[in-house]
Amino acid sequence: MILISGSGSNMAAIVRTAQQEDWARRHGARVAAVLSNKADAAGLAFARAEGIATEALSHKAFDSREAFDTALAQAIDRYQPSLVVLAGFMRILTPGFVARYAGRLINIHPSLLPAFTGLNTHQRAIDAGCKVAGVTVHQVTDELDVGPILDQAAVPVLPGDTAETLAARVQAQEHVIYPRAVRAFITALA
Ligand code: GAR
Repeated sequence: MILISGSGSNMAAIVRTAQQEDWARRHGARVAAVLSNKADAAGLAFARAEGIATEALSHKAFDSREAFDTALAQAIDRYQPSLVVLAGFMRILTPGFVARYAGRLINIHPSLLPAFTGLNTHQRAIDAGCKVAGVTVHQVTDELDVGPILDQAAVPVLPGDTAETLAARVQAQEHVIYPRAVRAFITALA
């Protein structure tokens, strides 16, 4: 099950890899559903076109994080997923939610953790004078962007880079390592 908030390019990379490598036949695994907290997320249209079930659940319809996360868990549990993949899902999750999916909740973060948790990672890496930047896939724990690291990829920071050019270089690596991390998880299950 994959959770998104926006374009869903990482979700699409996982879906495409699952198709190309025939995860259904080889690993008995499939993307059960794609859920977004934004009904107009472009990624939902992609998933629908691929014949994947989609759900939209707006956090704005709830008056607390706890209430949203309770509804989110109900929506997720209908699919009984082995793994919950956060792919640009831009919501901070409550401890209760994280505990419910402990060990089977993973996230992708656009920095070489433990450097640059939080937002604006690319601009902060440029401002700090970093010569390398990158992306991390990690298990989600209570502390934001701090859980055990599962996979990483590094890219150079080039002279003249802007947050946008660096983000594009990092995203190309995101699309390599996120499918790889999901594959590692599902092959360990099989
Ligand atoms: C990705 O770059 C991901 O690393 C980042 O959001 C983007 C989503 O893109 N995640 C975070 O910043 C998490 N704090 P996508 O919707 O095209 O996959």
